[in-house]
Amino acid sequence: MWRDGASQRCLRLVREMAIAPGAPVLDFGSGIGGPARDIQAATGAYVVGINLSRQQLQTSLALSRLQQPNAPLFADLVNADGQSLPFRAQTFAHVYSINMFYHIPAPQQALSEIARVLRPGGRFGLDDWFLTARTAAATVQQLRTNWSSSQGFHQLDDMRQWLEQHGLAIVGELDFTDEAGQFLREERFGAVFDRQVRARLIEVFPQLYQYDGYVLEHAALAAEQLRNDILYMGQLYRSGEAVYKQLIAEKRR
Ligand SMILES: C[S@@+](CC[C@H](N)C(=O)[O-])C[C@H]1O[C@@H](n2cnc3c(N)ncnc32)[C@H](O)[C@@H]1O
Repeated sequence: MWRDGASQRCLRLVREMAIAPGAPVLDFGSGIGGPARDIQAATGAYVVGINLSRQQLQTSLALSRLQQPNAPLFADLVNADGQSLPFRAQTFAHVYSINMFYHIPAPQQALSEIARVLRPGGRFGLDDWFLTARTAAATVQQLRTNWSSSQGFHQLDDMRQWLEQHGLAIVGELDFTDEAGQFLREERFGAVFDRQVRARLIEVFPQLYQYDGYVLEHAALAAEQLRNDILYMGQLYRSGEAVYKQLIAEKRR
Protein backbone atom coordinates (compact mmCIF):
# COMPACT_ATOMS: atom_id res chain seq x y z
CA MET A 1 0.00 0.00 0.00
CA TRP A 2 1.18 3.54 -0.78
CA ARG A 3 0.20 4.65 2.76
CA ASP A 4 2.56 2.05 4.18
CA GLY A 5 4.98 3.02 1.43
CA ALA A 6 4.73 6.66 2.54
CA SER A 7 5.42 5.67 6.11
CA GLN A 8 8.44 3.57 5.07
CA ARG A 9 9.66 6.47 2.94
CA CYS A 10 9.52 8.89 5.91
CA LEU A 11 11.40 6.42 8.09
CA ARG A 12 14.02 5.99 5.41
CA LEU A 13 14.49 9.76 5.32
CA VAL A 14 14.95 10.11 9.06
CA ARG A 15 17.40 7.22 9.09
CA GLU A 16 19.51 9.07 6.51
CA MET A 17 19.24 12.25 8.57
CA ALA A 18 20.44 10.52 11.78
CA ILE A 19 17.98 12.30 14.09
CA ALA A 20 18.81 11.78 17.78
CA PRO A 21 16.17 11.42 20.53
CA GLY A 22 15.18 14.81 21.95
CA ALA A 23 16.69 16.75 19.03
CA PRO A 24 14.69 19.86 18.07
CA VAL A 25 13.44 19.17 14.54
CA LEU A 26 11.31 21.32 12.23
CA ASP A 27 8.59 19.68 10.12
CA PHE A 28 8.38 22.14 7.24
CA GLY A 29 4.77 21.97 5.93
CA SER A 30 3.49 19.52 8.52
CA GLY A 31 -0.05 19.20 7.06
CA ILE A 32 -2.24 17.17 9.41
CA GLY A 33 0.73 15.42 10.97
CA GLY A 34 0.96 12.02 9.22
CA PRO A 35 4.76 11.97 8.74
CA ALA A 36 5.41 13.61 12.13
CA ARG A 37 3.58 10.75 13.85
CA ASP A 38 5.89 8.17 12.23
CA ILE A 39 9.01 10.27 12.71
CA GLN A 40 8.39 11.13 16.33
CA ALA A 41 7.62 7.51 17.16
CA ALA A 42 10.78 6.32 15.39
CA THR A 43 13.23 8.91 16.75
CA GLY A 44 11.79 10.49 19.92
CA ALA A 45 12.67 13.89 18.43
CA TYR A 46 11.14 17.14 19.68
CA VAL A 47 9.13 17.99 16.54
CA VAL A 48 7.88 21.51 15.77
CA GLY A 49 5.46 21.78 12.84
CA ILE A 50 4.82 24.80 10.65
CA ASN A 51 2.05 25.04 8.11
CA LEU A 52 0.36 27.73 6.05
CA SER A 53 -3.12 26.37 6.71
CA ARG A 54 -4.47 27.12 10.17
CA GLN A 55 -7.28 24.65 9.62
CA GLN A 56 -4.84 21.79 8.97
CA LEU A 57 -2.93 22.68 12.13
CA GLN A 58 -6.17 22.48 14.11
CA THR A 59 -6.93 19.07 12.60
CA SER A 60 -3.38 18.03 13.43
CA LEU A 61 -3.85 19.02 17.07
CA ALA A 62 -7.18 17.22 17.31
CA LEU A 63 -5.69 14.02 15.80
CA SER A 64 -2.68 14.30 18.06
CA ARG A 65 -4.85 14.54 21.21
CA LEU A 66 -7.01 11.66 20.03
CA GLN A 67 -4.18 9.32 19.11
CA GLN A 68 -1.53 10.26 21.65
CA PRO A 69 -3.31 11.80 24.69
CA ASN A 70 -0.33 11.18 27.01
CA ALA A 71 2.48 12.25 24.71
CA PRO A 72 1.40 15.05 22.39
CA LEU A 73 2.66 14.58 18.87
CA PHE A 74 4.10 18.05 18.33
CA ALA A 75 6.19 20.06 20.76
CA ASP A 76 4.74 23.11 19.01
CA LEU A 77 2.64 23.96 15.97
CA VAL A 78 3.07 27.28 14.21
CA ASN A 79 0.90 28.87 11.58
CA ALA A 80 3.45 30.40 9.19
CA ASP A 81 4.62 30.63 5.62
CA GLY A 82 7.74 28.51 5.09
CA GLN A 83 9.24 31.38 3.10
CA SER A 84 9.47 33.47 6.28
CA LEU A 85 10.14 31.36 9.37
CA PRO A 86 9.36 32.89 12.78
CA PHE A 87 12.37 31.27 14.51
CA ARG A 88 15.80 32.49 15.57
CA ALA A 89 18.91 31.48 13.65
CA GLN A 90 20.22 27.96 14.44
CA THR A 91 17.12 26.89 16.38
CA PHE A 92 16.90 23.40 14.88
CA ALA A 93 19.19 20.37 14.81
CA HIS A 94 17.40 19.20 11.64
CA VAL A 95 14.63 20.22 9.23
CA TYR A 96 12.58 17.92 7.01
CA SER A 97 9.91 18.57 4.40
CA ILE A 98 7.68 15.80 3.10
CA ASN A 99 5.75 16.09 -0.15
CA MET A 100 5.17 19.84 0.10
CA PHE A 101 8.08 21.78 -1.42
CA TYR A 102 6.48 21.67 -4.87
CA HIS A 103 3.94 24.18 -3.48
CA ILE A 104 6.60 26.80 -2.71
CA PRO A 105 6.54 29.76 -5.11
CA ALA A 106 9.96 31.17 -4.04
CA PRO A 107 12.06 28.06 -3.31
CA GLN A 108 15.33 29.98 -2.89
CA GLN A 109 13.76 32.19 -0.23
CA ALA A 110 12.49 29.09 1.61
CA LEU A 111 15.92 27.41 1.39
CA SER A 112 17.62 30.52 2.74
CA GLU A 113 15.22 30.41 5.71
CA ILE A 114 15.83 26.70 6.26
CA ALA A 115 19.61 27.24 6.18
CA ARG A 116 19.23 30.13 8.65
CA VAL A 117 17.29 28.14 11.27
CA LEU A 118 19.50 25.02 10.95
CA ARG A 119 22.53 24.51 13.19
CA PRO A 120 25.87 23.95 11.45
CA GLY A 121 26.22 20.23 10.68
CA GLY A 122 22.41 19.84 10.85
CA ARG A 123 20.59 18.09 8.03
CA PHE A 124 17.75 19.11 5.75
CA GLY A 125 15.76 16.11 4.45
CA LEU A 126 13.72 16.98 1.38
CA ASP A 127 11.16 14.44 0.14
CA ASP A 128 9.34 15.56 -2.98
CA TRP A 129 8.55 15.17 -6.66
CA PHE A 130 10.41 17.21 -9.27
CA LEU A 131 10.20 18.12 -12.91
CA THR A 132 13.09 16.96 -15.11
CA ALA A 133 14.86 18.08 -18.28
CA ARG A 134 12.36 15.83 -20.12
CA THR A 135 9.22 17.56 -18.82
CA ALA A 136 7.31 19.08 -21.76
CA ALA A 137 5.90 22.61 -21.50
CA ALA A 138 2.42 21.16 -22.11
CA THR A 139 2.90 18.82 -19.15
CA VAL A 140 3.76 21.73 -16.84
CA GLN A 141 0.63 23.48 -18.10
CA GLN A 142 -1.47 20.39 -17.38
CA LEU A 143 0.05 20.07 -13.89
CA ARG A 144 -0.80 23.72 -13.17
CA THR A 145 -4.39 23.04 -14.14
CA ASN A 146 -4.56 19.78 -12.17
CA TRP A 147 -3.14 21.23 -8.97
CA SER A 148 -4.59 24.77 -9.37
CA SER A 149 -1.18 26.37 -9.12
CA SER A 150 0.33 29.20 -11.12
CA GLN A 151 3.59 28.91 -9.14
CA GLY A 152 5.72 26.19 -7.57
CA PHE A 153 6.94 22.93 -9.25
CA HIS A 154 10.73 22.71 -9.43
CA GLN A 155 13.34 21.05 -11.61
CA LEU A 156 15.53 18.50 -9.83
CA ASP A 157 18.75 20.00 -11.24
CA ASP A 158 17.74 23.49 -10.08
CA MET A 159 17.00 22.16 -6.61
CA ARG A 160 20.43 20.49 -6.36
CA GLN A 161 22.07 23.81 -7.31
CA TRP A 162 19.94 25.91 -4.95
CA LEU A 163 20.75 23.65 -2.01
CA GLU A 164 24.48 24.04 -2.65
CA GLN A 165 24.11 27.80 -3.11
CA HIS A 166 22.52 28.06 0.33
CA GLY A 167 25.36 26.21 2.06
CA LEU A 168 23.46 22.91 2.13
CA ALA A 169 25.82 20.24 0.81
CA ILE A 170 24.03 17.20 -0.62
CA VAL A 171 25.18 14.10 1.27
CA GLY A 172 22.56 11.61 0.09
CA GLU A 173 19.96 11.04 -2.60
CA LEU A 174 17.33 8.29 -2.70
CA ASP A 175 15.05 7.59 -5.65
CA PHE A 176 11.41 6.46 -5.33
CA THR A 177 10.34 7.16 -8.90
CA ASP A 178 9.95 3.49 -9.95
CA GLU A 179 8.02 2.64 -6.82
CA ALA A 180 5.67 5.60 -7.30
CA GLY A 181 5.24 4.85 -11.01
CA GLN A 182 4.41 1.19 -10.30
CA PHE A 183 1.88 2.01 -7.61
CA LEU A 184 0.12 4.90 -9.39
CA ARG A 185 -1.55 2.66 -11.99
CA GLU A 186 -5.22 2.06 -12.70
CA GLU A 187 -5.05 -1.52 -11.40
CA ARG A 188 -3.29 -0.61 -8.14
CA PHE A 189 -3.94 2.97 -6.98
CA GLY A 190 -7.16 3.17 -9.05
CA ALA A 191 -8.51 -0.04 -7.48
CA VAL A 192 -7.61 1.02 -3.92
CA PHE A 193 -9.17 4.43 -4.52
CA ASP A 194 -12.42 2.88 -5.79
CA ARG A 195 -12.61 0.37 -2.96
CA GLN A 196 -11.57 2.48 0.01
CA VAL A 197 -11.34 6.18 -0.78
CA ARG A 198 -13.98 7.43 -3.21
CA ALA A 199 -17.08 6.92 -1.02
CA ARG A 200 -15.39 8.53 1.99
CA LEU A 201 -14.31 11.58 -0.03
CA ILE A 202 -17.81 12.04 -1.39
CA GLU A 203 -19.01 12.02 2.21
CA VAL A 204 -16.45 14.51 3.57
CA PHE A 205 -16.05 16.94 0.64
CA PRO A 206 -19.44 18.60 1.29
CA GLN A 207 -18.42 19.07 4.95
CA LEU A 208 -15.14 20.66 3.89
CA TYR A 209 -16.56 22.90 1.18
CA GLN A 210 -19.65 24.38 2.74
CA TYR A 211 -21.03 26.92 0.36
CA ASP A 212 -24.49 27.48 -1.10
CA GLY A 213 -25.26 25.24 -3.99
CA TYR A 214 -22.63 22.58 -3.24
CA VAL A 215 -24.31 19.34 -4.13
CA LEU A 216 -23.28 15.72 -3.98
CA GLU A 217 -22.54 15.58 -7.71
CA HIS A 218 -19.80 18.19 -7.15
CA ALA A 219 -18.19 15.91 -4.56
CA ALA A 220 -18.37 12.94 -6.94
CA LEU A 221 -16.72 15.01 -9.68
CA ALA A 222 -14.03 16.32 -7.31
CA ALA A 223 -13.22 12.75 -6.17
CA GLU A 224 -12.98 11.56 -9.78
CA GLN A 225 -10.75 14.53 -10.66
CA LEU A 226 -8.40 13.82 -7.77
CA ARG A 227 -8.16 10.16 -8.83
CA ASN A 228 -7.27 11.20 -12.40
CA ASP A 229 -4.74 13.82 -11.28
CA ILE A 230 -2.90 11.31 -9.12
CA LEU A 231 -2.90 8.68 -11.88
CA TYR A 232 -1.51 11.36 -14.22
CA MET A 233 1.50 11.70 -11.87
CA GLY A 234 2.03 7.93 -12.30
CA GLN A 235 2.31 8.41 -16.08
CA LEU A 236 4.92 11.13 -15.58
CA TYR A 237 7.03 8.94 -13.25
CA ARG A 238 6.96 6.12 -15.81
CA SER A 239 7.86 8.38 -18.74
CA GLY A 240 10.69 10.24 -16.95
CA GLU A 241 8.84 13.60 -17.01
CA ALA A 242 8.82 13.61 -13.20
CA VAL A 243 10.90 11.98 -10.48
CA TYR A 244 10.25 11.30 -6.81
CA LYS A 245 13.34 11.88 -4.69
CA GLN A 246 14.70 12.35 -1.24
CA LEU A 247 17.65 14.72 -1.04
CA ILE A 248 19.62 14.87 2.20
CA ALA A 249 21.74 17.99 2.62
CA GLU A 250 24.02 19.09 5.45
CA LYS A 251 24.58 22.68 6.52
CA ARG A 252 28.24 23.51 6.16
CA ARG A 253 30.09 24.20 9.43
C1 LIG B 1 0.57 17.60 0.29
S1 LIG B 1 0.53 18.39 1.85
C2 LIG B 1 1.77 17.47 2.72
C3 LIG B 1 1.65 17.62 4.21
C4 LIG B 1 2.58 16.73 5.05
N1 LIG B 1 3.97 17.09 4.87
C5 LIG B 1 2.35 15.26 4.69
O1 LIG B 1 3.20 14.69 3.99
O2 LIG B 1 1.32 14.73 5.10
C6 LIG B 1 1.33 19.95 1.54
C7 LIG B 1 1.24 20.91 2.76
O3 LIG B 1 2.03 22.06 2.52
C8 LIG B 1 1.38 23.17 3.12
N2 LIG B 1 1.94 24.39 2.50
C9 LIG B 1 1.81 24.80 1.22
N3 LIG B 1 2.48 25.95 1.01
C10 LIG B 1 3.08 26.27 2.20
C11 LIG B 1 3.92 27.34 2.63
N4 LIG B 1 4.27 28.34 1.80
N5 LIG B 1 4.34 27.35 3.91
C12 LIG B 1 3.98 26.36 4.77
N6 LIG B 1 3.18 25.32 4.43
C13 LIG B 1 2.73 25.28 3.16
C14 LIG B 1 -0.08 22.90 2.80
O4 LIG B 1 -0.92 23.62 3.68
C15 LIG B 1 -0.17 21.40 3.04
O5 LIG B 1 -0.45 21.10 4.37
